[in-house]
Amino acid sequence: MPLTNTRLNPWICLKMKKTLEQYLREKSSRVDAWLNRLLPVSTQYPVSIHKAMRYSLFAGGKRIRPALSIAAFEAFGGRGERIYPAACALEMLHTFSLIHDDLPCMDNDDFRRGKPTSHKVFGEAIAVLAGDALCIHAFGILGRYAALPVVQEIGSALGTAGMIGGQVVDIESEGKKNITEKTLRFIHTRKTEAFITASLRMGAVIAGAKAKDMAIITRYGRAIGLAFQIIDDILDIVSTTEQIGKDAGSDIEKGKATYPALFGLEKSNRKARLLIAQAKKTVQPLGARGSLFKELADFIVDRIN
Ligand code: IPE
Ligand code: IPE
Ligand code: MG
Ligand code: MG
Ligand code: MG
Repeated sequence: MPLTNTRLNPWICLKMKKTLEQYLREKSSRVDAWLNRLLPVSTQYPVSIHKAMRYSLFAGGKRIRPALSIAAFEAFGGRGERIYPAACALEMLHTFSLIHDDLPCMDNDDFRRGKPTSHKVFGEAIAVLAGDALCIHAFGILGRYAALPVVQEIGSALGTAGMIGGQVVDIESEGKKNITEKTLRFIHTRKTEAFITASLRMGAVIAGAKAKDMAIITRYGRAIGLAFQIIDDILDIVSTTEQIGKDAGSDIEKGKATYPALFGLEKSNRKARLLIAQAKKTVQPLGARGSLFKELADFIVDRIN
């Protein structure tokens, strides 16, 4: 294989000193092209729902869940773009969770991905339906392009034992004093970590990874997934709305159960960095194939939005 064929081999990309930023940009742009292909066109009747689905999906976003699934797919021998429809389904599911998370009955936020939230633009009813539609469309795609165990795993990562369960306890903990570390950890692992781990595992399964590698990528996912939400909590406090593209200070306003609320900024930051160090150690046995995962781990803790 010619060394210039970087799209087929991420490890060569890194050897050629391609930065992680470039890697993420490339994957993002392929994900966007596939998303465009997989979504109903915005002129399809009824237009409002199709516009709303596309509005939130193409408002921006780091595309980190698809990128993690693609990285795992490629690390464990997957080649070409057969992972992309399933990777796009992850982004649709994530966007569904964001649209609903922002609703007045949930976090009641006005900005997302640098733009007014879905309900601000389309009204609450269409925003709820756009979230529902993205979720249903995503499972349709997974059903078409992924094996049943993958569909089941993504389903449980997002269900009441996963993201929805975490969101329930997040909402029910609002304004409560004496939230324990155990409850906080429950919220963060369910609402965020479960989906991140499932994204990595999905890519690895589709590539046909061995059980030993599945165990490594699962441990890695758990560490970066929790760190991801701790950093999100920190950014809510230390950043501006402009920087993060969503309402800064929203967690304090609602009395959310967050790591900084319980431990303070400094200790939360230390905890996140410890998790990232653990994650990097976890992928050590993967040798050269682990280097992209290490860079992704650093990206999660050093990100500014
Ligand atoms: C935001 O996720 C919601 C959380 C789980 C913290 P991201 O930070 O991945 O949001 P986008 O996709 O880049 O907008
Ligand atoms: C939400 O956590 C995680 C989801 C499952 C959407 P947050 O409520 O902290 O996410 P942001 O800060 O609004 O993106
Ligand atoms: Mg929330
Ligand atoms: Mg929120
Ligand atoms: Mg947040």
